[in-house]
Amino acid sequence: MFKGQSALVTGGSRGIGLAIANKLASQGASITLLARNETLLSQSVKQLPSAYNQQHSFQVVDLLQLVNPGYDHSRLQESLKSHMILVNCAGITTHTLLHRMSQQQITDTINLNLTAPIILSQLCIKHMIRQHKRNPSILNIASVLSLTEHVLPGTAVYAASKAGLLGFTKSLSSELRGRVRVNALLPGLVKETDMGNAVDSDLKTVPLEEVANKAVEILCSLSMNGECVVLE
Ligand SMILES: NC(=O)c1ccc[n+]([C@@H]2O[C@H](COP(=O)([O-])OP(=O)(O)OC[C@H]3O[C@@H](n4cnc5c(N)ncnc54)[C@H](OP(=O)(O)O)[C@@H]3O)[C@@H](O)[C@H]2O)c1
Repeated sequence: MFKGQSALVTGGSRGIGLAIANKLASQGASITLLARNETLLSQSVKQLPSAYNQQHSFQVVDLLQLVNPGYDHSRLQESLKSHMILVNCAGITTHTLLHRMSQQQITDTINLNLTAPIILSQLCIKHMIRQHKRNPSILNIASVLSLTEHVLPGTAVYAASKAGLLGFTKSLSSELRGRVRVNALLPGLVKETDMGNAVDSDLKTVPLEEVANKAVEILCSLSMNGECVVLE
């Protein structure tokens, strides 16, 4: 149960992020959805359950802007202060062989899937550490493609970004010594989302509902820290 807790879910306007947000809200959490498309965010936030009279909101942010040296992080940092749960779910993939990828595609993939979660974690951990008695937690949504036994041509940069996220998860969890739990979830192919629907492969599929359930289970489990949970 997440009654009285607040969660910020990046990529929360649709797909896996929205499914996780829904589950957390159904168990009492107040949710902030973060993505770029304001119209979709305002529709999605209205659909979140609020049986516990909790308040939901959204923030329109292009996470790719976060990496710009001149970007003012203060508004985001202020908003993160009221959240004890951060779900780093926003992500992009490409289905392009490396030699055909532009430099922009490469840096955008690394920046959104890896650098943005690092910056967001940095923005919230000081505050989370101060409130460690409230069991703060960060969940990074990686992918089975971050594991070397799972390969899909055209996703080398995506796989590298998600493998980086696993290293970040393990190392940060150890650095924070349990004051903030940091875990990762590595789903197989989720066909019900825009991203999963665009992939044509024989990777094992996993239902969206199961991914959301597993994410919530990890966030609930106070003994889990530094774990990278494969779900396929
Ligand atoms: N679907 C799968 O098969 C699968 C499998 C394993 C792991 N994953 C991972 O799960 C996560 C969610 O995937 P999904 O399938 O739910 O993807 P999706 O349906 O394509 O949704 C992506 C979400 O990220 C947001 N987003 C994209 N670019 C953004 C940006 N620059 N700034 C802020 N938000 C941005 C999108 O909203 P806007 O476009 O409005 O910004 C949307 O809310 C990703 O990290 C993905 O790598 C997916």
